[in-house]
Amino acid sequence: TEGALWGGRFSSGPSPELARLSKSTHFDWQLGPYDLAGSRAHAKALAAAGYLSDDELVRMLESLDTLRVAFEDGSFAALESDEDVHGALERGLIEIAGAELGGKLRAGRSRNDQIATLVRLYLLDHSRAITHHVVDLVDAIAAQAEAHLGAPMPGRTHMQHAQPVLLSHHLLAYAWPLVRDLERLRDWSVRARSSPYGAGALAGSSLGLDPQLVATELGLDRPTENSMDATASRDVVAEFAFIASLVGINLSRLAEDIIIWNTREFGFVTLHDSYSTGSSIMPQKKNPDIAELARGKSGRLIGNLAGLLATLKGLPLAYNRDLQEDKEPVFDSVTTLEVLLPAFTGMVASLRFDTARMAELAPQGFSLATDVAEWLVTQHVPFRDAHEISGALVSFCEQRGLRLDEPTDAELTEISPHLTPEVRSVLTVSGSIESRDGTGGTAAVRVTEQLAALTRRIREL
Ligand code: ARG
Repeated sequence: TEGALWGGRFSSGPSPELARLSKSTHFDWQLGPYDLAGSRAHAKALAAAGYLSDDELVRMLESLDTLRVAFEDGSFAALESDEDVHGALERGLIEIAGAELGGKLRAGRSRNDQIATLVRLYLLDHSRAITHHVVDLVDAIAAQAEAHLGAPMPGRTHMQHAQPVLLSHHLLAYAWPLVRDLERLRDWSVRARSSPYGAGALAGSSLGLDPQLVATELGLDRPTENSMDATASRDVVAEFAFIASLVGINLSRLAEDIIIWNTREFGFVTLHDSYSTGSSIMPQKKNPDIAELARGKSGRLIGNLAGLLATLKGLPLAYNRDLQEDKEPVFDSVTTLEVLLPAFTGMVASLRFDTARMAELAPQGFSLATDVAEWLVTQHVPFRDAHEISGALVSFCEQRGLRLDEPTDAELTEISPHLTPEVRSVLTVSGSIESRDGTGGTAAVRVTEQLAALTRRIREL
Protein backbone atom coordinates (compact mmCIF):
# COMPACT_ATOMS: atom_id res chain seq x y z
CA THR A 1 0.00 0.00 0.00
CA GLU A 2 3.03 2.22 -0.58
CA GLY A 3 1.78 5.68 -1.56
CA ALA A 4 -1.91 5.01 -0.80
CA LEU A 5 -3.95 7.27 1.47
CA TRP A 6 -4.54 4.45 3.92
CA GLY A 7 -2.78 1.22 4.83
CA GLY A 8 -1.28 1.56 8.31
CA ARG A 9 -3.56 -1.05 9.81
CA PHE A 10 -3.57 -3.39 6.81
CA SER A 11 -1.24 -6.34 6.38
CA SER A 12 -1.76 -6.46 2.64
CA GLY A 13 -2.73 -4.11 -0.14
CA PRO A 14 -6.06 -4.36 -1.94
CA SER A 15 -6.65 -7.38 -4.16
CA PRO A 16 -6.55 -6.62 -7.87
CA GLU A 17 -10.33 -7.23 -8.08
CA LEU A 18 -10.99 -4.70 -5.30
CA ALA A 19 -8.59 -2.20 -6.81
CA ARG A 20 -10.40 -2.46 -10.13
CA LEU A 21 -13.82 -2.05 -8.55
CA SER A 22 -12.75 0.77 -6.29
CA LYS A 23 -10.91 2.86 -8.86
CA SER A 24 -12.48 6.14 -9.93
CA THR A 25 -9.58 8.00 -11.57
CA HIS A 26 -11.04 7.37 -15.05
CA PHE A 27 -13.96 9.65 -14.23
CA ASP A 28 -13.00 11.78 -11.22
CA TRP A 29 -9.82 13.02 -12.95
CA GLN A 30 -11.85 15.98 -14.21
CA LEU A 31 -12.18 17.10 -10.59
CA GLY A 32 -8.39 17.59 -10.45
CA PRO A 33 -8.41 21.38 -10.92
CA TYR A 34 -11.03 21.73 -8.16
CA ASP A 35 -9.09 19.37 -5.87
CA LEU A 36 -6.01 21.57 -6.35
CA ALA A 37 -8.00 24.74 -5.66
CA GLY A 38 -9.32 23.10 -2.48
CA SER A 39 -5.78 22.17 -1.47
CA ARG A 40 -4.56 25.75 -1.91
CA ALA A 41 -7.41 27.04 0.26
CA HIS A 42 -6.82 24.32 2.85
CA ALA A 43 -3.09 25.14 3.01
CA LYS A 44 -3.99 28.74 3.81
CA ALA A 45 -6.37 27.59 6.56
CA LEU A 46 -3.62 25.35 8.00
CA ALA A 47 -1.18 28.27 7.96
CA ALA A 48 -3.71 30.64 9.53
CA ALA A 49 -4.16 28.15 12.39
CA GLY A 50 -0.40 27.80 12.85
CA TYR A 51 0.12 24.32 11.34
CA LEU A 52 2.26 25.60 8.48
CA SER A 53 4.95 28.28 8.88
CA ASP A 54 5.03 31.21 6.44
CA ASP A 55 7.87 29.52 4.61
CA GLU A 56 6.07 26.17 4.50
CA LEU A 57 2.96 27.84 3.12
CA VAL A 58 4.98 29.49 0.34
CA ARG A 59 6.60 26.18 -0.58
CA MET A 60 3.27 24.35 -0.37
CA LEU A 61 1.57 26.82 -2.72
CA GLU A 62 4.51 26.70 -5.12
CA SER A 63 4.41 22.91 -5.13
CA LEU A 64 0.67 22.91 -5.75
CA ASP A 65 1.24 25.32 -8.65
CA THR A 66 3.90 23.06 -10.14
CA LEU A 67 1.52 20.14 -9.75
CA ARG A 68 -1.29 22.08 -11.42
CA VAL A 69 0.88 22.83 -14.43
CA ALA A 70 1.89 19.15 -14.68
CA PHE A 71 -1.75 18.12 -14.32
CA GLU A 72 -2.86 20.53 -17.03
CA ASP A 73 -0.18 19.61 -19.56
CA GLY A 74 -0.79 15.92 -18.94
CA SER A 75 2.68 15.13 -17.63
CA PHE A 76 1.11 14.21 -14.29
CA ALA A 77 -1.11 11.18 -14.98
CA ALA A 78 -2.93 8.54 -12.95
CA LEU A 79 -0.99 5.44 -11.98
CA GLU A 80 -2.45 1.96 -11.81
CA SER A 81 -2.04 2.17 -8.03
CA ASP A 82 -4.04 5.43 -7.65
CA GLU A 83 -7.52 4.83 -6.22
CA ASP A 84 -8.97 8.26 -6.94
CA VAL A 85 -7.92 11.73 -8.04
CA HIS A 86 -7.47 12.89 -4.42
CA GLY A 87 -4.97 10.13 -3.64
CA ALA A 88 -3.18 10.67 -6.93
CA LEU A 89 -2.76 14.39 -6.30
CA GLU A 90 -1.41 13.79 -2.80
CA ARG A 91 1.10 11.40 -4.34
CA GLY A 92 2.02 14.09 -6.86
CA LEU A 93 2.39 16.74 -4.16
CA ILE A 94 4.73 14.52 -2.16
CA GLU A 95 6.78 13.84 -5.30
CA ILE A 96 7.25 17.61 -5.67
CA ALA A 97 7.31 18.91 -2.08
CA GLY A 98 8.77 15.88 -0.32
CA ALA A 99 7.06 13.63 2.21
CA GLU A 100 7.73 15.97 5.14
CA LEU A 101 5.86 19.00 3.78
CA GLY A 102 3.53 17.18 1.36
CA GLY A 103 2.36 14.90 4.17
CA LYS A 104 1.11 17.87 6.20
CA LEU A 105 -1.70 18.89 3.85
CA ARG A 106 -4.04 16.09 4.80
CA ALA A 107 -4.43 17.33 8.38
CA GLY A 108 -8.00 18.38 9.19
CA ARG A 109 -9.62 17.21 5.99
CA SER A 110 -10.98 13.99 4.57
CA ARG A 111 -11.79 12.87 1.07
CA ASN A 112 -15.39 12.91 2.30
CA ASP A 113 -15.55 16.67 2.84
CA GLN A 114 -13.25 17.21 -0.15
CA ILE A 115 -15.38 15.29 -2.62
CA ALA A 116 -18.61 16.87 -1.38
CA THR A 117 -17.06 20.30 -1.99
CA LEU A 118 -15.41 19.50 -5.31
CA VAL A 119 -18.57 18.19 -6.94
CA ARG A 120 -20.22 21.51 -6.04
CA LEU A 121 -17.36 23.50 -7.56
CA TYR A 122 -17.55 21.37 -10.71
CA LEU A 123 -21.33 21.82 -11.02
CA LEU A 124 -21.18 25.57 -10.31
CA ASP A 125 -18.58 25.97 -13.05
CA HIS A 126 -20.53 23.96 -15.58
CA SER A 127 -23.84 25.53 -14.62
CA ARG A 128 -22.35 28.82 -15.82
CA ALA A 129 -21.48 27.25 -19.19
CA ILE A 130 -24.89 25.60 -19.45
CA THR A 131 -26.58 28.88 -18.53
CA HIS A 132 -24.79 30.60 -21.44
CA HIS A 133 -25.86 27.84 -23.82
CA VAL A 134 -29.50 28.05 -22.69
CA VAL A 135 -29.46 31.86 -23.00
CA ASP A 136 -28.16 31.44 -26.57
CA LEU A 137 -31.06 29.09 -27.32
CA VAL A 138 -33.61 31.48 -25.81
CA ASP A 139 -32.07 34.27 -27.91
CA ALA A 140 -32.35 32.13 -31.05
CA ILE A 141 -36.02 31.37 -30.33
CA ALA A 142 -36.70 35.04 -29.58
CA ALA A 143 -34.97 36.09 -32.82
CA GLN A 144 -37.18 33.72 -34.84
CA ALA A 145 -40.24 35.03 -33.00
CA GLU A 146 -39.25 38.62 -33.77
CA ALA A 147 -38.53 37.83 -37.42
CA HIS A 148 -42.00 36.31 -37.90
CA LEU A 149 -44.18 38.76 -35.98
CA GLY A 150 -47.60 38.76 -37.61
CA ALA A 151 -47.33 35.31 -39.23
CA PRO A 152 -50.32 33.12 -38.25
CA MET A 153 -50.42 29.35 -37.87
CA PRO A 154 -52.88 26.75 -36.66
CA GLY A 155 -52.80 26.48 -32.87
CA ARG A 156 -53.56 22.95 -31.72
CA THR A 157 -54.82 21.13 -28.68
CA HIS A 158 -54.95 17.32 -28.77
CA MET A 159 -52.97 17.80 -32.02
CA GLN A 160 -56.25 19.01 -33.61
CA HIS A 161 -56.78 22.47 -35.09
CA ALA A 162 -58.06 24.58 -32.20
CA GLN A 163 -57.59 28.34 -32.74
CA PRO A 164 -55.24 30.35 -34.94
CA VAL A 165 -52.20 31.78 -33.16
CA LEU A 166 -49.14 33.75 -34.15
CA LEU A 167 -46.08 31.65 -34.94
CA SER A 168 -44.17 34.02 -32.65
CA HIS A 169 -46.56 33.22 -29.80
CA HIS A 170 -46.03 29.50 -30.31
CA LEU A 171 -42.24 29.89 -30.43
CA LEU A 172 -42.14 32.05 -27.31
CA ALA A 173 -44.15 29.40 -25.48
CA TYR A 174 -40.98 27.31 -25.77
CA ALA A 175 -38.73 30.12 -24.57
CA TRP A 176 -40.46 30.74 -21.23
CA PRO A 177 -39.88 27.26 -19.73
CA LEU A 178 -36.19 27.64 -20.61
CA VAL A 179 -36.14 31.00 -18.85
CA ARG A 180 -37.56 29.27 -15.78
CA ASP A 181 -34.83 26.62 -16.09
CA LEU A 182 -32.27 29.43 -16.01
CA GLU A 183 -33.94 30.83 -12.90
CA ARG A 184 -33.90 27.34 -11.39
CA LEU A 185 -30.16 27.12 -11.97
CA ARG A 186 -29.70 30.50 -10.33
CA ASP A 187 -31.80 29.49 -7.29
CA TRP A 188 -29.96 26.14 -7.09
CA SER A 189 -26.60 27.91 -7.07
CA VAL A 190 -27.47 29.61 -3.76
CA ARG A 191 -27.72 26.17 -2.13
CA ALA A 192 -24.73 24.86 -4.05
CA ARG A 193 -22.49 27.61 -2.67
CA SER A 194 -22.52 26.08 0.82
CA SER A 195 -19.06 24.63 1.56
CA PRO A 196 -18.61 21.15 3.14
CA TYR A 197 -14.81 21.65 3.41
CA GLY A 198 -13.79 21.39 7.05
CA ALA A 199 -16.49 18.84 7.95
CA GLY A 200 -13.79 16.16 7.95
CA ALA A 201 -14.89 12.56 7.57
CA LEU A 202 -18.21 13.23 9.31
CA ALA A 203 -17.77 14.80 12.75
CA GLY A 204 -16.00 18.08 12.07
CA SER A 205 -12.45 19.20 12.74
CA SER A 206 -10.58 19.34 16.05
CA LEU A 207 -7.78 21.51 14.67
CA GLY A 208 -9.45 24.90 14.87
CA LEU A 209 -9.25 25.53 11.12
CA ASP A 210 -11.37 28.33 9.70
CA PRO A 211 -13.91 26.86 7.26
CA GLN A 212 -15.10 30.33 6.22
CA LEU A 213 -11.60 31.10 5.00
CA VAL A 214 -11.71 27.98 2.78
CA ALA A 215 -15.24 28.75 1.57
CA THR A 216 -14.28 32.31 0.63
CA GLU A 217 -11.09 31.15 -1.13
CA LEU A 218 -13.18 28.75 -3.21
CA GLY A 219 -15.79 31.35 -4.12
CA LEU A 220 -18.41 29.68 -1.94
CA ASP A 221 -20.64 31.57 0.48
CA ARG A 222 -20.37 29.86 3.85
CA PRO A 223 -19.50 26.55 5.56
CA THR A 224 -22.26 23.93 5.70
CA GLU A 225 -23.97 24.01 9.12
CA ASN A 226 -23.80 20.27 9.92
CA SER A 227 -20.69 18.20 9.20
CA MET A 228 -22.67 14.96 8.77
CA ASP A 229 -25.10 16.59 6.38
CA ALA A 230 -22.15 18.21 4.61
CA THR A 231 -20.45 14.89 3.83
CA ALA A 232 -23.49 12.62 3.37
CA SER A 233 -26.08 14.60 1.44
CA ARG A 234 -26.17 14.87 -2.32
CA ASP A 235 -29.45 16.72 -2.79
CA VAL A 236 -27.50 19.53 -4.44
CA VAL A 237 -26.29 17.03 -7.05
CA ALA A 238 -29.75 15.50 -7.48
CA GLU A 239 -31.33 18.94 -7.87
CA PHE A 240 -28.83 19.82 -10.56
CA ALA A 241 -29.60 16.52 -12.34
CA PHE A 242 -33.29 17.38 -12.11
CA ILE A 243 -32.80 20.80 -13.69
CA ALA A 244 -30.67 19.19 -16.41
CA SER A 245 -33.50 16.70 -17.06
CA LEU A 246 -36.02 19.51 -17.27
CA VAL A 247 -33.86 21.40 -19.79
CA GLY A 248 -33.67 18.16 -21.76
CA ILE A 249 -37.43 17.69 -21.63
CA ASN A 250 -38.04 21.27 -22.72
CA LEU A 251 -35.73 20.75 -25.69
CA SER A 252 -37.42 17.45 -26.44
CA ARG A 253 -40.87 18.99 -26.66
CA LEU A 254 -39.71 21.65 -29.11
CA ALA A 255 -37.80 18.92 -30.95
CA GLU A 256 -41.02 16.95 -31.37
CA ASP A 257 -42.77 19.96 -32.92
CA ILE A 258 -39.84 20.53 -35.28
CA ILE A 259 -39.85 16.87 -36.32
CA ILE A 260 -43.57 17.04 -37.11
CA TRP A 261 -43.34 20.45 -38.79
CA ASN A 262 -40.54 19.06 -40.96
CA THR A 263 -42.69 16.22 -42.37
CA ARG A 264 -43.98 16.45 -45.92
CA GLU A 265 -47.56 16.42 -44.58
CA PHE A 266 -47.01 19.52 -42.47
CA GLY A 267 -44.32 21.24 -44.49
CA PHE A 268 -44.02 24.10 -41.98
CA VAL A 269 -40.22 24.19 -41.75
CA THR A 270 -37.08 23.47 -43.71
CA LEU A 271 -33.93 22.55 -41.85
CA HIS A 272 -30.64 24.05 -42.90
CA ASP A 273 -28.38 21.53 -44.63
CA SER A 274 -25.64 21.99 -42.07
CA TYR A 275 -28.05 21.11 -39.25
CA SER A 276 -29.58 18.00 -40.83
CA THR A 277 -28.32 14.60 -41.92
CA GLY A 278 -28.67 12.24 -44.86
CA SER A 279 -29.34 8.54 -45.30
CA SER A 280 -26.73 5.98 -46.30
CA ILE A 281 -29.14 4.32 -48.73
CA MET A 282 -31.92 6.78 -49.62
CA PRO A 283 -30.31 9.62 -51.54
CA GLN A 284 -33.28 11.97 -51.18
CA LYS A 285 -33.41 11.91 -47.36
CA LYS A 286 -32.80 14.92 -45.17
CA ASN A 287 -33.36 14.01 -41.57
CA PRO A 288 -33.94 16.06 -38.40
CA ASP A 289 -31.30 14.17 -36.40
CA ILE A 290 -30.51 17.01 -33.99
CA ALA A 291 -34.14 17.15 -32.90
CA GLU A 292 -34.27 13.37 -32.61
CA LEU A 293 -31.05 13.26 -30.59
CA ALA A 294 -32.49 15.93 -28.29
CA ARG A 295 -35.61 13.83 -27.81
CA GLY A 296 -33.52 10.72 -27.22
CA LYS A 297 -31.02 12.34 -24.91
CA SER A 298 -33.80 13.71 -22.71
CA GLY A 299 -34.40 10.05 -21.80
CA ARG A 300 -30.76 9.69 -20.89
CA LEU A 301 -30.91 12.81 -18.69
CA ILE A 302 -33.96 11.45 -16.88
CA GLY A 303 -32.11 8.13 -16.45
CA ASN A 304 -29.17 9.90 -14.83
CA LEU A 305 -31.51 11.59 -12.36
CA ALA A 306 -33.44 8.41 -11.61
CA GLY A 307 -30.21 6.44 -11.07
CA LEU A 308 -28.87 9.08 -8.72
CA LEU A 309 -32.08 9.21 -6.68
CA ALA A 310 -32.06 5.41 -6.43
CA THR A 311 -28.48 5.51 -5.13
CA LEU A 312 -29.44 8.01 -2.42
CA LYS A 313 -32.61 6.27 -1.33
CA GLY A 314 -32.15 4.46 1.99
CA LEU A 315 -28.49 5.48 2.48
CA PRO A 316 -27.83 5.82 6.21
CA LEU A 317 -25.66 8.63 7.57
CA ALA A 318 -22.96 9.57 7.14
CA TYR A 319 -20.59 9.00 4.17
CA ASN A 320 -20.97 5.66 2.41
CA ARG A 321 -18.98 4.60 -0.59
CA ASP A 322 -22.22 4.38 -2.59
CA LEU A 323 -21.88 8.15 -2.86
CA GLN A 324 -19.05 7.72 -5.33
CA GLU A 325 -21.82 6.72 -7.76
CA ASP A 326 -23.11 10.30 -7.84
CA LYS A 327 -20.46 11.48 -10.24
CA GLU A 328 -20.75 9.56 -13.48
CA PRO A 329 -24.47 10.29 -13.97
CA VAL A 330 -24.18 14.00 -13.25
CA PHE A 331 -20.98 14.36 -15.30
CA ASP A 332 -22.85 12.69 -18.14
CA SER A 333 -25.77 15.10 -17.76
CA VAL A 334 -23.35 18.03 -17.95
CA THR A 335 -21.55 16.71 -21.03
CA THR A 336 -24.82 15.77 -22.71
CA LEU A 337 -26.20 19.30 -22.36
CA GLU A 338 -22.92 20.98 -23.29
CA VAL A 339 -22.79 19.00 -26.55
CA LEU A 340 -26.50 19.09 -27.32
CA LEU A 341 -27.38 22.74 -26.66
CA PRO A 342 -25.08 24.43 -29.22
CA ALA A 343 -26.23 22.06 -31.99
CA PHE A 344 -29.87 22.55 -31.04
CA THR A 345 -29.47 26.33 -31.02
CA GLY A 346 -27.86 26.21 -34.46
CA MET A 347 -30.78 24.19 -35.77
CA VAL A 348 -33.36 26.62 -34.32
CA ALA A 349 -31.51 29.73 -35.50
CA SER A 350 -31.30 28.39 -39.07
CA LEU A 351 -34.89 27.06 -39.37
CA ARG A 352 -36.80 28.42 -42.34
CA PHE A 353 -40.56 28.67 -41.86
CA ASP A 354 -43.07 28.33 -44.71
CA THR A 355 -45.31 31.08 -43.39
CA ALA A 356 -47.58 30.97 -46.46
CA ARG A 357 -48.40 27.32 -45.81
CA MET A 358 -48.94 27.97 -42.11
CA ALA A 359 -51.25 30.89 -42.89
CA GLU A 360 -53.21 28.78 -45.37
CA LEU A 361 -53.80 26.08 -42.78
CA ALA A 362 -54.57 28.48 -39.92
CA PRO A 363 -58.34 28.83 -40.62
CA GLN A 364 -58.87 25.18 -41.56
CA GLY A 365 -60.59 22.69 -39.31
CA PHE A 366 -63.20 25.35 -38.40
CA SER A 367 -60.66 26.95 -36.10
CA LEU A 368 -62.70 30.18 -36.03
CA ALA A 369 -65.76 28.54 -34.43
CA THR A 370 -64.83 29.93 -31.00
CA ASP A 371 -64.72 33.41 -32.54
CA VAL A 372 -68.31 32.98 -33.73
CA ALA A 373 -69.38 31.93 -30.22
CA GLU A 374 -67.54 34.84 -28.60
CA TRP A 375 -68.97 37.31 -31.15
CA LEU A 376 -72.45 36.06 -30.18
CA VAL A 377 -71.57 36.77 -26.54
CA THR A 378 -70.79 40.37 -27.53
CA GLN A 379 -74.33 40.40 -28.98
CA HIS A 380 -75.57 39.39 -25.49
CA VAL A 381 -76.33 35.78 -26.36
CA PRO A 382 -75.59 33.54 -23.33
CA PHE A 383 -72.42 31.54 -23.99
CA ARG A 384 -74.27 28.25 -23.59
CA ASP A 385 -76.52 29.15 -26.53
CA ALA A 386 -73.68 30.78 -28.44
CA HIS A 387 -71.70 27.53 -28.25
CA GLU A 388 -74.72 25.59 -29.61
CA ILE A 389 -75.31 28.06 -32.45
CA SER A 390 -71.66 28.09 -33.48
CA GLY A 391 -71.65 24.29 -33.35
CA ALA A 392 -74.69 24.20 -35.62
CA LEU A 393 -72.90 26.50 -38.08
CA VAL A 394 -69.88 24.14 -38.07
CA SER A 395 -72.14 21.17 -38.71
CA PHE A 396 -73.94 23.02 -41.56
CA CYS A 397 -70.61 23.91 -43.21
CA GLU A 398 -69.06 20.51 -42.65
CA GLN A 399 -71.95 18.75 -44.42
CA ARG A 400 -71.69 21.08 -47.42
CA GLY A 401 -67.92 21.40 -47.57
CA LEU A 402 -68.05 25.15 -46.85
CA ARG A 403 -65.85 27.49 -44.80
CA LEU A 404 -67.54 29.22 -41.88
CA ASP A 405 -67.82 32.52 -43.79
CA GLU A 406 -69.40 30.96 -46.90
CA PRO A 407 -73.08 30.38 -45.99
CA THR A 408 -75.44 33.02 -47.41
CA ASP A 409 -77.18 35.58 -45.23
CA ALA A 410 -80.39 33.56 -45.52
CA GLU A 411 -78.64 30.36 -44.51
CA LEU A 412 -77.09 32.10 -41.50
CA THR A 413 -80.49 33.34 -40.32
CA GLU A 414 -81.91 29.88 -40.83
CA ILE A 415 -79.22 28.39 -38.55
CA SER A 416 -79.98 31.08 -35.96
CA PRO A 417 -81.57 34.53 -36.10
CA HIS A 418 -78.63 35.72 -33.97
CA LEU A 419 -76.26 35.00 -36.87
CA THR A 420 -76.51 38.35 -38.68
CA PRO A 421 -74.14 39.05 -41.61
CA GLU A 422 -71.92 41.11 -39.22
CA VAL A 423 -70.60 37.82 -37.84
CA ARG A 424 -68.35 37.68 -40.91
CA SER A 425 -66.24 40.47 -39.36
CA VAL A 426 -64.67 37.96 -36.95
CA LEU A 427 -64.33 35.19 -39.49
CA THR A 428 -60.78 36.02 -40.49
CA VAL A 429 -57.58 34.63 -39.04
CA SER A 430 -56.14 38.07 -38.40
CA GLY A 431 -59.39 39.27 -36.78
CA SER A 432 -59.38 36.24 -34.52
CA ILE A 433 -55.76 36.67 -33.51
CA GLU A 434 -55.99 40.42 -32.95
CA SER A 435 -59.11 40.00 -30.80
CA ARG A 436 -57.16 37.83 -28.31
CA ASP A 437 -55.48 40.78 -26.69
CA GLY A 438 -55.98 39.79 -23.07
CA THR A 439 -52.91 39.26 -20.86
CA GLY A 440 -50.69 36.57 -22.34
CA GLY A 441 -52.83 36.35 -25.48
CA THR A 442 -51.74 35.83 -29.06
CA ALA A 443 -52.57 39.34 -30.37
CA ALA A 444 -49.51 41.02 -31.91
CA VAL A 445 -49.47 43.78 -29.25
CA ARG A 446 -49.29 41.20 -26.49
CA VAL A 447 -46.67 39.12 -28.27
CA THR A 448 -44.51 42.21 -28.77
CA GLU A 449 -44.84 42.93 -25.06
CA GLN A 450 -43.90 39.33 -24.29
CA LEU A 451 -40.72 39.61 -26.34
CA ALA A 452 -39.68 42.68 -24.36
CA ALA A 453 -40.56 40.99 -21.06
CA LEU A 454 -38.54 37.92 -22.03
CA THR A 455 -35.50 40.01 -22.83
CA ARG A 456 -35.84 41.80 -19.49
CA ARG A 457 -36.13 38.52 -17.55
CA ILE A 458 -32.98 37.20 -19.22
CA ARG A 459 -31.09 40.39 -18.41
CA GLU A 460 -32.15 40.15 -14.75
CA LEU A 461 -30.60 36.69 -14.35
N1 ARG B 1 -13.72 8.66 -4.29
C1 ARG B 1 -14.70 8.80 -3.26
C2 ARG B 1 -15.98 9.45 -3.77
O1 ARG B 1 -16.03 9.80 -4.89
C3 ARG B 1 -14.17 9.63 -2.15
C4 ARG B 1 -13.35 8.79 -1.29
C5 ARG B 1 -13.97 8.54 0.00
N2 ARG B 1 -13.56 7.24 0.33
C6 ARG B 1 -13.69 6.73 1.53
N3 ARG B 1 -13.30 5.54 1.69
N4 ARG B 1 -14.22 7.41 2.51
O2 ARG B 1 -16.96 9.58 -3.08
